[in-house]
Order: sequence, then structure tokens, then C-alpha cells
Amino acid sequence: MAINSVETIEHGKAAGPCIMVIFGAGGDLTSRKLIPSLFNLAKDGLLAKNFTVLGFSRDTDITEDSFRKTATRFLSDEDRGSDAYEWFAGRLNYMSGDLRTLADYQKLSTRLAELDKANNTGGNYFFYFATAPAFFGDIVDLLGQSGLSNETNGCYRRVIIEKPFGTDLASARALNIRIQKVLDEKQIYRIDHYLGKETVQNLMVFRFANAIYEPIWNRRYIDNIQITVSETVGVEQRGGYFETAGTLRDMVPNHIMQLISLTAMEPPISFQPDAVRDEQAKVLHAIAPMTGEEVLHRTVRGQYNEGAMDGQHVHAYRAEPGVNPQSNTETYVAMKLIIDNWRWAGVPFYLRTGKRMAKRHTEIAITFRKPPFVLFRGTNVDKLSENKLIIKIQPEEGTRMRFNAKVPGPVLNIGAVDMDFDYKDYFGARPATGYEVLLYDCMIGDATLFQRADMVDGGWSIVDPILDVWKALPARSFPNYASGSWGPKEADDLLARDGRRWRDISE
Ligand code: BG6
Repeated sequence: MAINSVETIEHGKAAGPCIMVIFGAGGDLTSRKLIPSLFNLAKDGLLAKNFTVLGFSRDTDITEDSFRKTATRFLSDEDRGSDAYEWFAGRLNYMSGDLRTLADYQKLSTRLAELDKANNTGGNYFFYFATAPAFFGDIVDLLGQSGLSNETNGCYRRVIIEKPFGTDLASARALNIRIQKVLDEKQIYRIDHYLGKETVQNLMVFRFANAIYEPIWNRRYIDNIQITVSETVGVEQRGGYFETAGTLRDMVPNHIMQLISLTAMEPPISFQPDAVRDEQAKVLHAIAPMTGEEVLHRTVRGQYNEGAMDGQHVHAYRAEPGVNPQSNTETYVAMKLIIDNWRWAGVPFYLRTGKRMAKRHTEIAITFRKPPFVLFRGTNVDKLSENKLIIKIQPEEGTRMRFNAKVPGPVLNIGAVDMDFDYKDYFGARPATGYEVLLYDCMIGDATLFQRADMVDGGWSIVDPILDVWKALPARSFPNYASGSWGPKEADDLLARDGRRWRDISE
């Protein structure tokens, strides 16, 4: 992991030799994210010279040659023309098989042994589950039955499991119990791609490598925290999946909980994986699950209607392919969470996320309490804005501090000004998918940026009561926000009831 690596011998060093097996290798994730990330790691000299990939999928039409072509199709022309490309493409292998057939895992085991011998990869394998979630449990069982999960003679065997991890608290717990029968927790890497984002990792550096923020990072100085994850895309081709998931499951127990836990956690005693994850888990467990009554008052759901995006007409969610024309699935969620601990008691955390919103933007906005403005009576004090710290996650990456300054002139006037830090001004733009650090960390055995079982549990515990109430009381007002807007009016009311409003992202 980046933070760790500044201080440790792993920094800048190629990971040790290993074979990465990609289950579901014919899918989009492989060509869009995994292969480009591996290629970026190769360019940075972070892959072992004998690093090997074995793609595995049901598709018997794929040949090794066609796999190399399709898997690398999203690399840029420049990358394809580079010296590294020949070497890299030569590292990609493929075999077909069925994920629910033990005999195919035995074939996989034989093929891996051959590749291992030919490439001298020390028996180190990690398995990436780029498959539908319904396969996760079966794959782990069969890895166990075929002996592929055994770490013998000092080799490692690890699994990277994609989201969604379960569909509610009970199913996530059942999946954890099932996979932990076969694997030790240290072999399990539950991935959340938000933790691969530079700006998300920077949250920890920002908070703990600077002396100026920590003293004021608490209920005495902070009035409220708002987390916005807005997307302009609709459900695209994923209507079928979305109908079973909805935005609450898709974004909240995972990505948004990561943002909350990194913002709210106590300083860990070190950057060792469990030290960091202990603190994150504590935050999740300090968020009291809502009662039914609280769900009604503190959560808002929405579904997009047709509207205009960039001057183009776009369809309502109910008209998307694979979506029920009477669907009650939410594409927008807003809520108020309370973290019941010493640092945060009384500081509301408001979060909102949705599709087809006015702007693609992810940020954490921290609003500080107002100082006593008595000195400035007679000026425009009631219009003065509070100090705000905005941590911009994407697509802009950086921070903004808003504070008040005297407007030049003989009369005392006060105005809000901004101090901006933009990542690219300092560090330039680096082509990255966000998966690089996660794949590299798995290879070097650093699980800091992966979710532990208790964190998954914590995320679902918060979401579960909301799922229950929403299921019992289907939404009656859907669709309730226009594509290209900032979501349903009820979300504004949620904050207005507390005398607050959402930060204007266009400011
Ligand atoms: C995925 C969700 O996990 O995250 C998608 O399934 C969502 O629905 C995506 O669009 C958002 O990721 P990012 O990196 O674009 O913010």
C-alpha cells in the first residue's frame, strides 16, 4: 500500500513471483480494469519478471491468442507499441472450465503446476473472482476440495473477492462463514475499488501526517459532515443487476462506508493492516442501526425520471433495458447517520448518492462550527459562511478550504474565499485504474486496503434495517427526480429539518 511503502522495503520493489488466476476472465472487468492495471504495474517495474496470468472462463471459443487480444484491447496505442507489451502479452495464458465442476479445478491445478514449473513462481497463486456473486461460495469450496487453497511449503494462496459481498447482513454473514471454513482470514482479500483511489487513501495521510487538522477533527469544532457521491450515468446495461440491488446495496455498505470510516476513525497505532482495519471497524460499529421510525425520518430514496443531460434527452429508469416498467428500485439514496462515540456525538453525517444526477462528483465536505461573530455586528455576519474543508475525491482530486476574509476597502465587509490544492498541479496526472495498488498489495500480502469480515458485517448492519423498512413499504412517489437534477426534494427537506442544506457543488 502506498502509505506503508514509503517506509518499508517493499517500496518500489517488484512483487514476488506468482500466478494470478482470473475467474470470469472473458468479462469486462478483466479487459477494462485488471489487465490495464497489471500493465501499469509492469511499466512501473512492480511485477516480477516471471509474473504469470491464467485467465479462466466457461467460454471454450476463447483461445490463448484471442484472450491476449481481447484482454488487452483497452490498452492505449502507445502502450501496445511499447517494449513492455511483447513481454506482457506473453505472460497471459488461458484455459476454459466450469466454475462448479470439481474435475475442472483438478485440470486447473494441473495447468497451474505446469505454469508454476515453467515460470518458477514458487507455487504462489492468487485467484481473482471476476464472476457473478452467486459463484463466490462455490469457487471457494472447490478451491478447497481440489487442494488449490492449501499453503504448503511456504507458498501463498489468496483470493480476491469482488463486490457485492452478500445482499444483506444474513447472506454476507453466511458467505463469510462458508469461505472461512476453507480459508484463513489472511488469505481473503475482499476488494472495494474505492480504496484503490489515490484520494481515498490520501484521507489517512491528510489526517494523520498533518498536525493542523487532528485537533479540530471532532464534535467541538465540526458542525456536520456531508458525503456526496453523484454519478451522471444511468444504470447502463446493468438494469438486470440493478433491479436486484438498488443504490442502497450497490453503494452504501461498501464504498460510502469506506469513506465514512476513513474520515471518522481514530488514529491507528500503526499502518499495519489490522491496526487500520480495527479502527475502521470500530467506526462502523459505532453507527447505531436505525429503528423503523428513524428509517422513515432519516432516509430518503429516489428513482430517476427522464430528463436532460448535457442537452440530450435521457430515459427514465423504468424505461431502461432489463428494468421492470413499474420498478420500485431506488437509484438515489440520502440519509443522516449518527456515529455514537466520544469524538462524533452530535455531529450528523449526511450522505447522498445517486445516478443520473447533475454532475459526476465525489466529495467529503466538512463544515466547521461558526465562531462567535459578535465582533462584526453591524456587518453582514448573518450571511457569513462557515469554514468548510472540502475533500474532492473524483473527478477533481484535491482539497479546498473556505474561510472568511476582509473585502478590501474602507468599510468592514467580509467575504468567503477559497484556498485550493489540486493534485495534478503538484503531482501531474498518472494514468491509473485504481486497481493497481490493490493487485500489488495482494501480491505483497498487505491487506490494509481490503475489507475484513467484521467490516463487511458492520456495513450491512447499518443498511439492513433500511432494507427491511423499504421492502415493507414500497416507494409510492417513484420516479421522483428528473435526470440531470440533484435528486428528490425530500433530500433537501431532510437537511432543512435540521436547519441545514446540502453544499452547493457548483460553488
Ligand atoms: C460500482 C457500482 O461498485 O461503483 C456502480 O456497482 C458505480 O454502480 C461504481 O457506478 C462507481 O464507481 P466509480 O469508481 O466510478 O465512482
